[in-house]
Amino acid sequence: MQADSHSNGGTQSGWIARIRNAPQNSTGNIVMVAVALSIVCSVLVSGTAVLLRPLQLDNEKQNRQRIILEVAGLLDNSGQDASGKEQSLEQLFSQIEAHVVELASGEYVDTLDPATFDAQAASRDPELAVEIPAARDIANIVQRAKYATVYMVRGESGLNTLILPVYGYGLWSTMYGFLAFEGDANTIKGLRFYQQAETPGLGGEVDNPRWRAQWQGKLAFGPDGEPKIEVIRGVVDDRAGAGDGTSAARYQVDGLAGSTLTGRGVTNLMHYWLGDEGFGPYLTRLKATGEVQ
Ligand SMILES: Cc1cc2nc3c(=O)[nH]c(=O)nc-3n(C[C@H](O)[C@H](O)[C@H](O)COP(=O)(O)O)c2cc1C
Repeated sequence: MQADSHSNGGTQSGWIARIRNAPQNSTGNIVMVAVALSIVCSVLVSGTAVLLRPLQLDNEKQNRQRIILEVAGLLDNSGQDASGKEQSLEQLFSQIEAHVVELASGEYVDTLDPATFDAQAASRDPELAVEIPAARDIANIVQRAKYATVYMVRGESGLNTLILPVYGYGLWSTMYGFLAFEGDANTIKGLRFYQQAETPGLGGEVDNPRWRAQWQGKLAFGPDGEPKIEVIRGVVDDRAGAGDGTSAARYQVDGLAGSTLTGRGVTNLMHYWLGDEGFGPYLTRLKATGEVQ
């Protein structure tokens, strides 16, 4: 065999020998090198993707945890906790209590583990998802999981912070984020998105810290108990005194310049998740049990 393949073309047989004897820049050789290179590269790329997937999932989880801590005011941008100490994400996150809630009833579900329950994946699972009737789908998400993971921070005087996952469509993308409330489940502590693909510099400004800062202290629900918070077009006029509790400014956040549609998406997703289709039944239950005053 060995001798065969090294002898001249007349005695060689088979396709390997034909290729070896062909001129280096023949069409056959070029095609073969291209095909071999593509196979090697695709194996390398897909192998790397498979190998790195657990790491990627872990990073995504850590990013969500960081955003939850930040929106709850337990971690600042420099990675320090509220008292200025450096602590691991895990240590900080251990202060947070997590529950899976059945949205329709507002009851906790003990059979699903909040550490592993993935509402995004569940929203695509026919067993775990519900379709949203078009007339009520103001967040434009078509279907959602029946369950959601909520987070709580308790203090000496009871519930200190309540963090709810919220999401909905902007102009180009579904924006996924967390909304944090004070213990009254009405005064907003913060709103942060951890995944969105709006245009950088336009709708993408939902991630701008200056815009995000405005949410703190705003009220989500009007005096009638209905969701009232909104991203307006233009700048909020708070001359009447945002702190008087009745001014419209308490329910308003500045619009994003040139991005009315993303702003409208944010308003809509807030109203959806705070309404009867979203966390309405859960919030009603928290008030009924006295957990929220
Ligand atoms: C390339 C491009 C990207 C845009 N991206 C966004 C966006 O991310 N969010 C948004 O609301 N509007 C975006 N717009 C603008 C919208 O088409 C629309 O004009 C705008 O939302 C209207 O807001 P305004 O009334 O505040 O100008 C984009 C426009 C262009 C041309």
